[in-house]
Amino acid sequence: MRATRAPMCRVLLLVAAACCFFSGSVAATDSIDLAASITGNQTLVSAGGIFELGFFSPPGGRTYLGIRYAGIADRTVVWVANRNDPLISAPGALRLSPDGRLLILDRQNSTVWSSPAPTRRITAGAVARLGDDGNFLLSSDGSGSPQSVAWQSFDYPTDTLLPGMKLGMDFKRRLTRNLTSWNSPNDPSPGQYTFKLVPGGLPEFFLFQGPKKIYASGPFNGAGLTGVPNLMSKDFIFKVVNSPDETYYSYAITDPKLRSRFLMDGTAGLVQRYVWTNNGPWSSFWYYPTDPCDTYGKCGAFGYCDITQAPLCTCLPGFEPRSTEQWNLRDGTGGCVRTTNLSCGAGDGFWPVNRMKLPEATNATVHADMTLDQCRQLCLANCSCRAYSAANVSGGINRGCVIWGVDLMDMRQYPAVVQDVFIRLAQSEVDALIAAGSTSHHLLKLSPY
Ligand SMILES: *[C@@H]1O[C@H](CO)[C@@H](O)[C@H](O)[C@H]1NC(C)=O
Ligand SMILES: *[C@@H]1O[C@H](CO)[C@@H](O)[C@H](O)[C@H]1NC(C)=O
Ligand SMILES: *[C@@H]1O[C@H](CO)[C@@H](O)[C@H](O)[C@H]1NC(C)=O
Ligand SMILES: *[C@@H]1O[C@H](CO)[C@@H](O)[C@H](O)[C@H]1NC(C)=O
Ligand SMILES: *[C@@H]1O[C@H](CO)[C@@H](O)[C@H](O)[C@H]1NC(C)=O
Ligand SMILES: *[C@@H]1O[C@H](CO)[C@@H](O)[C@H](O)[C@H]1NC(C)=O
Ligand SMILES: *[C@@H]1O[C@H](CO)[C@@H](O)[C@H](O)[C@H]1NC(C)=O
Repeated sequence: MRATRAPMCRVLLLVAAACCFFSGSVAATDSIDLAASITGNQTLVSAGGIFELGFFSPPGGRTYLGIRYAGIADRTVVWVANRNDPLISAPGALRLSPDGRLLILDRQNSTVWSSPAPTRRITAGAVARLGDDGNFLLSSDGSGSPQSVAWQSFDYPTDTLLPGMKLGMDFKRRLTRNLTSWNSPNDPSPGQYTFKLVPGGLPEFFLFQGPKKIYASGPFNGAGLTGVPNLMSKDFIFKVVNSPDETYYSYAITDPKLRSRFLMDGTAGLVQRYVWTNNGPWSSFWYYPTDPCDTYGKCGAFGYCDITQAPLCTCLPGFEPRSTEQWNLRDGTGGCVRTTNLSCGAGDGFWPVNRMKLPEATNATVHADMTLDQCRQLCLANCSCRAYSAANVSGGINRGCVIWGVDLMDMRQYPAVVQDVFIRLAQSEVDALIAAGSTSHHLLKLSPY
């Protein structure tokens, strides 16, 4: 049943890591306990037959323990246990040690990988079970209850987020769950791309290439990630949770027959959302970055990117290019500077923009209980405040306050209204914009300020 498919070349073309995966005997079980283990080509299959766990060997002679969707011809791996610690001397074995660690042993019975120490004391009834959600979960007493979780693969994502997994941080447990690309299609060791939460201010997810930010999701404003306008879909339900204990993104799928994965793709350098319907193959129906305006900081400080304009970069109202030469050469990264200096007192006002991805807000200050009016007062009273906005616009109601005391970065224009962001300008500049009948004048009248 799970034997390697005949048209191997085609499979290899689809996904190079396809080779030699789980070409195993059918295991009758979904779990191991202190007595049992799996070895060589044996696998665990989740109760509903949705996921499979076993050893796989991409070309190159190294062996890894991984999880994949079962029954899908394309042998795509969604999780790897020992991405940093490959097994050189196969066959490998997976075992549960008496102190509650999962161990990968090589042919000589040497440990090549072990899971971290369990977070619960292990009993004789401990069981590690592969669930139909793709989570490999070690339960201290075998019950599988949330209180008994001693370790789980969902806490250690590789390059793939499955429905129900969390991307973000658990501050209480000091866990960081990021997606890091494979080094190459045949090498699951960590590659150069990581997609992760950067904590602070409003929740926001960043795509890093090495140390460099190359794309940002836009801050979460209670309704959506403001740089991902098509996040909503009838098949996908996403949530962003932001509490003192944890901040994360996660998603669910409504159609139980749909197979889905969210991948940090190291070959393309993109985060991609794939679905598998009927006979496949995996189809990518959503990916970021999508266009040049998604490039992080494309138009520098106080600039914004508009994909419908040439050049792409424009300065916010009341700002002008820092370097006209650079700007004329279509390089907006130098950004913009004020046309008129702030007075830092009663001589300042605000200009609203509202069809924008919110500026990066990881360094912004959030006051959850403030009204927008109090927010404005707070911004006006502090000369380092460059802009303010509601922190949460869920349900179309303004709640809370965000204060940007940093340069406004990574904005882009959208055709639809996202939310009002009030940019601090000298009042004379605001008056000039009104007198010039600037296109966003009507927005000023529509909004309370
Ligand atoms: C699984 O491994 C055993 C022992 O190495 C071998 O005899 C058997 O042919 C393998 N099965 C498959 C399907 O590769
Ligand atoms: C590895 O451990 C197993 C189980 O304890 C044992 O049967 C086997 O002989 C050992 N192999 C080696 C090479 O020590
Ligand atoms: C991603 O998370 C892993 C732990 O799961 C950590 O070792 C690694 O440093 C993180 N990578 C980045 C770029 O934050
Ligand atoms: C936004 O406000 C709504 C309504 O009060 C609340 O349910 C939700 O948790 C808030 N979201 C965040 C991220 O604070
Ligand atoms: C505006 O501020 C900058 C930097 O603080 C300063 O160099 C410049 O002279 C000021 N311009 C005016 C007209 O006051
Ligand atoms: C936010 O703060 C960090 C650390 O101080 C800094 O590296 C980064 O450039 C800041 N981002 C912005 C947009 O100011
Ligand atoms: C002014 O705003 C900056 C940036 O938000 C903040 O660091 C500073 O503490 C504020 N100053 C006062 C007096 O509130």
